[in-house]
Amino acid sequence: MLQPIYMDSHATTPIDPRVLEAMMPYLTNHFGNAASSTHLFGEHAKDAVDIARGQVAALIGCSEEEIIFTSGATESDNLAVKGIAYRYRDRGNHIITSTVEHHAVLDSCEALEESGFDVTYLPVDRYGMVHPQQVEDAITDKTVLISLIYVNGEVGTINPIAEVGEIAEKYSILFHSDATQGIGKVESDVNELKMDLMSFTAHKMYGPKGIGALYVRKKDPPIQLYPLLHGGGQENNIRSGTLNVPGIVGFGAACELCKGEMAKEAKRITALRAQLYHELSKRIDFIHLNGHPIQRLPGNLNLSFEFVESQSILSGLKEIALSSGSACNSDSVEPSYVLRAMGVKDELALGAIRFGLGRYNTAAEVDTVVERIASQVARLRELSPLYEIAQTENYVTAIPENGEKA
Ligand SMILES: Cc1ncc(COP(=O)(O)O)c(C=O)c1O
Repeated sequence: MLQPIYMDSHATTPIDPRVLEAMMPYLTNHFGNAASSTHLFGEHAKDAVDIARGQVAALIGCSEEEIIFTSGATESDNLAVKGIAYRYRDRGNHIITSTVEHHAVLDSCEALEESGFDVTYLPVDRYGMVHPQQVEDAITDKTVLISLIYVNGEVGTINPIAEVGEIAEKYSILFHSDATQGIGKVESDVNELKMDLMSFTAHKMYGPKGIGALYVRKKDPPIQLYPLLHGGGQENNIRSGTLNVPGIVGFGAACELCKGEMAKEAKRITALRAQLYHELSKRIDFIHLNGHPIQRLPGNLNLSFEFVESQSILSGLKEIALSSGSACNSDSVEPSYVLRAMGVKDELALGAIRFGLGRYNTAAEVDTVVERIASQVARLRELSPLYEIAQTENYVTAIPENGEKA
């Protein structure tokens, strides 16, 4: 039996044992409801939530009252996009976003279109990046919200968020960013990044699943949101529902660990990624790097292997957790919408693999992954007539002229 290797950190991350340790009392003895203010059980829970709120706020440079706990980034994105659109409807009905957002933003925007909003979906360049000028050009006197992803979850590209925030500020338009893949991995201060609202989630940063947050700026002037969930009035009447105390405690602990360890961890993971890219490039020809070569999340490597389909590569590597860029429907394999939006040709998009390096990956694991991928690609290419032709001089590769070659 081969030892399993987890290299899919953009999908989710394991809980850090230190996070679990912090959560355990709140899963057992301290089970109180943080809203039960008349007894000690409730007080214990409330105190723990207050501490965690401080830890979460400290990681992103905001104040505690600016954090709203949610069930994860999907809910945070929905709350930000719909909550702003509904609250400020009298100001305008236009929203600017991009074609490479997570579906939590894209589908929220589509839902708003059904109720009369206009949405501009900005295209991206070949690295998956939106440029500030595009945002400025799309603004109209009806624009109420700009929502732009911070770090792309597929290709790792980091958008020029601070510049976009500056434009939003200049035109007094609210600015939300889905920062799910960046928080805890790259230094992020909401004031420096000029964000008004920001979504993030614990399970991408070694915390538990089912808990996330929305940062909502409270000053100059405070931002209001129309709630998605009505009920007991928790979280300042913006997000009703009994607080998930163990989840919140775990989220807080995960944030504190990231704050302390992020810089060192990013260096180590960047070195592992360099090793992975370098070794794969030595062993395999016709490789294409997807995403930005520099403005990129440390743990992300997204490569297309020409002449083979990533689903075929991965189906022979069950013990290694990686992600293909394509999605399987009932009767077909669809290339990723992100790679398509970047202009990556279908034959390359179908050969894309996303490597997501994280806290627990080692250099030895990278070596194993290189070995296994290289032999799998070689085996599949033996069956490819196109690859055979490619060995001759006249072959024109699908890899773009000015594309990043390994
Ligand atoms: C960019 C981005 N936004 C939102 C989400 C959804 O997060 P959650 O699983 O916490 O709802 C994800 C998770 O894949 C993501 O990568």
